[in-house]
Amino acid sequence: MARLITILATLLALCQHTALAYPRRLVASKVFLNGRDVEKEYDYIIVGGGTAGLTVADRLTEDGKATVLVVEYGQLSNSASITTVQGGFMGMSDTTLLYDIDSVPQTNLRNRTIAVLAGKVVGGSSAVNAMMTVRGTAEDYDRWGSFFGSKSHWTWQNLLPYFQRALNFVPPDDAVTKSANITYDTSFWGNTSGVYAGWPSFQYPGTSAQVDAFRGIPGMPFVNDSGSGVPGVYWYPTFMDPKLVQRSYARTGHHDRAANRTNYHLVTGSKVTRIILNGTTATGITFVPVGSASGSATNSSSTAVRAKREVILAAGGIHSPQVLQLSGIGARKLLSSANITTVVDLPGVGQNFQDHPMLTASYMYRNFTIHPSPEDLFLNATFSAWAAAVWAANRTGPNSIAIGNAAAWLPFPVISARSSSIASTLASQNHSAYLPPDTDPTVLAGYRAQMLSYATALRNNNTAFCNLVISGGAASGAIVDLHPLSRGTVNINTTDPYNTEPLVDYRALSNPLDAAVMADILRFTRRYHMENPLTAAWRAAEFAPGLDVTTDEQWRAYLEETVSPSEFHPAGTCAMLPRELGGVVDEELRVYGVTGLRVVDASIMPTLPGGNTCQTVYAVAEKAADLIRYGRPDDAER
Ligand SMILES: Cc1cc2nc3c(=O)[nH]c(=O)nc-3n(C[C@H](O)[C@H](O)[C@H](O)COP(=O)(O)OP(=O)(O)OC[C@H]3O[C@@H](n4cnc5c(N)ncnc54)[C@H](O)[C@@H]3O)c2cc1C
Ligand SMILES: *[C@@H]1O[C@H](CO)[C@@H](O)[C@H](O)[C@H]1NC(C)=O
Ligand SMILES: *[C@@H]1O[C@H](CO)[C@@H](O)[C@H](O)[C@H]1NC(C)=O
Ligand SMILES: *[C@@H]1O[C@H](CO)[C@@H](O)[C@H](O)[C@H]1NC(C)=O
Ligand SMILES: *[C@@H]1O[C@H](CO)[C@@H](O)[C@H](O)[C@H]1NC(C)=O
Ligand SMILES: *[C@@H]1O[C@H](CO)[C@@H](O)[C@H](O)[C@H]1NC(C)=O
Ligand SMILES: *[C@@H]1O[C@H](CO)[C@@H](O)[C@H](O)[C@H]1NC(C)=O
Ligand SMILES: *[C@@H]1O[C@H](CO)[C@@H](O)[C@H](O)[C@H]1NC(C)=O
Ligand SMILES: *[C@@H]1O[C@H](CO)[C@@H](O)[C@H](O)[C@H]1NC(C)=O
Ligand SMILES: *[C@@H]1O[C@H](CO)[C@@H](O)[C@H](O)[C@H]1NC(C)=O
Ligand SMILES: *[C@@H]1O[C@H](CO)[C@@H](O)[C@H](O)[C@H]1NC(C)=O
Ligand SMILES: *[C@@H]1O[C@H](CO)[C@@H](O)[C@H](O)[C@H]1NC(C)=O
Ligand SMILES: *[C@@H]1O[C@H](CO)[C@@H](O)[C@H](O)[C@H]1NC(C)=O
Repeated sequence: MARLITILATLLALCQHTALAYPRRLVASKVFLNGRDVEKEYDYIIVGGGTAGLTVADRLTEDGKATVLVVEYGQLSNSASITTVQGGFMGMSDTTLLYDIDSVPQTNLRNRTIAVLAGKVVGGSSAVNAMMTVRGTAEDYDRWGSFFGSKSHWTWQNLLPYFQRALNFVPPDDAVTKSANITYDTSFWGNTSGVYAGWPSFQYPGTSAQVDAFRGIPGMPFVNDSGSGVPGVYWYPTFMDPKLVQRSYARTGHHDRAANRTNYHLVTGSKVTRIILNGTTATGITFVPVGSASGSATNSSSTAVRAKREVILAAGGIHSPQVLQLSGIGARKLLSSANITTVVDLPGVGQNFQDHPMLTASYMYRNFTIHPSPEDLFLNATFSAWAAAVWAANRTGPNSIAIGNAAAWLPFPVISARSSSIASTLASQNHSAYLPPDTDPTVLAGYRAQMLSYATALRNNNTAFCNLVISGGAASGAIVDLHPLSRGTVNINTTDPYNTEPLVDYRALSNPLDAAVMADILRFTRRYHMENPLTAAWRAAEFAPGLDVTTDEQWRAYLEETVSPSEFHPAGTCAMLPRELGGVVDEELRVYGVTGLRVVDASIMPTLPGGNTCQTVYAVAEKAADLIRYGRPDDAER
């Protein structure tokens, strides 16, 4: 029976593909559901209609000159799971919008597997994320350039205008700003983008109090604006259109405004199987309808499209390395075990994998007397009825809050007394011991360069390592390690590379110093809740791990059981680094050894920024669009 269905499906796919009998549809919209509607060639082909892909497509088609095709796996969706801001969790709970991937068992996490979340819809992960709108610090972006030496144009100064172009900042309502003590500074923002950074029309009073409570611990830095590039305690906006009070994302901010342009085409439900290479020049791509077995790179249901100028890979941190490897660009040994002919032996592809680990200590205030609080939405019927009424009438009130708007982003020396010793240990480690045994020497050199940079950052106050999210209520918020030291891999499954998801291995805690850094983050978290004069009256109880956990060994055991290596920020797998440091793309985001092929998405980040990644992806994409259109900036613009 299954076989019969397969045969029927193949026949159907063949009929659809042999579309010569069909008159070509005259479509007002240039969004195609089927490969047969696509032209034979475009100036640019973009693989992946996600956060970066749609941003670049919008910019490249803006002047009406270049033709662009975006090929996206998912569909256009108007689902309420995407548009709803309340709570910030609806997108990531809707499995129809997400890839179905589990990591390989994590050997240092008692063999636990981790759900790998990434958006599978037009808009990509910007359609499903929690809408926290933050940047890393200036040093995070200067670090990227530092791997290329002092002449790099990847600096905070150079990237700032792209952050400003990327988002349209709409300040919070004056009354809310005053009553909650929100600070912001518009000089770090722009107001032209179709993607909005907005604010809810309500804040819980407990949020302001919990921001203020960081003053109870000496040496805490406070920052007036989340976009200033300085670590500290600060307020930040939400990826939300403040007029509609709906998620603002790459689809609404870039696709929708480009959709009427005759030079912009998007084909949905289509999986790119490989980049076509003539010698070492990228000349196009092949794609198949989602659901059809690929079998190999090309088959009867596959469509080939030519790129006259460039192919731009924007499939995200998990899938961009997969597409490169399937195209013969990657480590020779891996590719030959999958019977893929190596076109460019590029060992860095799929290596250097990073994500932000989430830690799971849990506190509850037994005497939290500040109301209303987020818990009141569930515990106080009068309050929740009011919240529902103002939302229904005016789209205002607590239901306009996504996941909150305040957090601490703290440098290591301000949370730990042993920053110097941890930094020295990191600098003098035998770095090769912490990567897979067969790691290429160039990748190892890149890892070493990163660890030396982190050793400096661990001692100074310019890079945030510890992120405590403020809940505003009785239950504690998320805890994140912003600069993990372990590096994982994302490689094709060599058993059946074209029909399987890549093998995602976080290699969590493979560098043992991660556990020490995380232990100090958790010790600081305990200090903030339990040993702080400004939180004392709330009388915190520690639910996890429990006050008996104090030594490094105990913390490590707790972390092995509980840490999640992902905040859904996969990055680093097509790193922008010199080739001798295991890089995959150069400073203009061009793949080494290939002409006409760039990568533009979270995978190019050589090291994670100390903040959730979406705003950085938008800024990188804006800069990439300029690199594609105008080339490398001259010295004056750096
Ligand atoms: C659940 C979740 C919560 C998050 N929360 C936040 C947050 O609150 N704040 C924040 O700043 N960041 C957050 N992030 C991270 C942020 O959203 C991502 O870093 C960012 O959107 C990644 O952009 P990208 O362009 O690299 O990839 P994506 O936006 O994921 O785009 C990749 C696109 O390529 C498509 N694709 C992949 N393979 C193929 C193929 N072979 N053929 C065709 N198309 C393909 C995908 O379907 C997808 O649309 C979150 C992410 C997730 C998943
Ligand atoms: C994890 O899996 C490996 C391989 O299957 C096994 O050898 C090991 O004992 C397991 N470890 C734990 C803690 O279960
Ligand atoms: C946009 O920013 C510019 C420059 O800062 C400012 O002059 C202008 O008033 C702003 N427009 C809006 C609508 O806020
Ligand atoms: C706001 O700041 C003022 C001055 O520092 C302080 O008096 C007030 O309590 C703060 N309000 C809140 C809600 O934290
Ligand atoms: C970092 O900040 C802490 C706390 O404010 C301070 O004690 C320390 O001297 C600072 N370190 C450096 C290198 O500036
Ligand atoms: C932050 O804002 C406050 C109030 O506007 C101001 O007094 C202070 O100088 C600002 N701090 C910085 C670092 O800009
Ligand atoms: C796109 O075209 C349609 C039909 O011509 C029009 O109604 C719509 O306003 C246009 N949208 C944009 C964003 O220009
Ligand atoms: C490949 O490139 C060569 C040399 O530039 C050219 O002659 C040939 O036509 C190209 N082949 C295809 C299929 O594009
Ligand atoms: C690779 O080729 C060998 C020999 O032809 C074959 O046994 C093996 O199944 C192939 N593997 C894949 C993934 O195609
Ligand atoms: C419930 O909420 C209402 C409205 O905010 C408030 O007036 C009331 O005091 C709350 N009740 C309790 C028991 O907290
Ligand atoms: C909605 O807004 C209108 C106009 O500001 C106001 O009169 C009305 O009371 C609001 N409705 C609710 C339920 O708050
Ligand atoms: C690799 O793919 C094969 C074939 O689909 C599958 O059986 C196997 O479980 C995959 N390997 C892993 C580690 O997921
Ligand atoms: C509980 O909180 C109230 C209000 O802040 C305070 O007056 C009281 O002392 C607290 N109780 C305890 C036992 O700390």
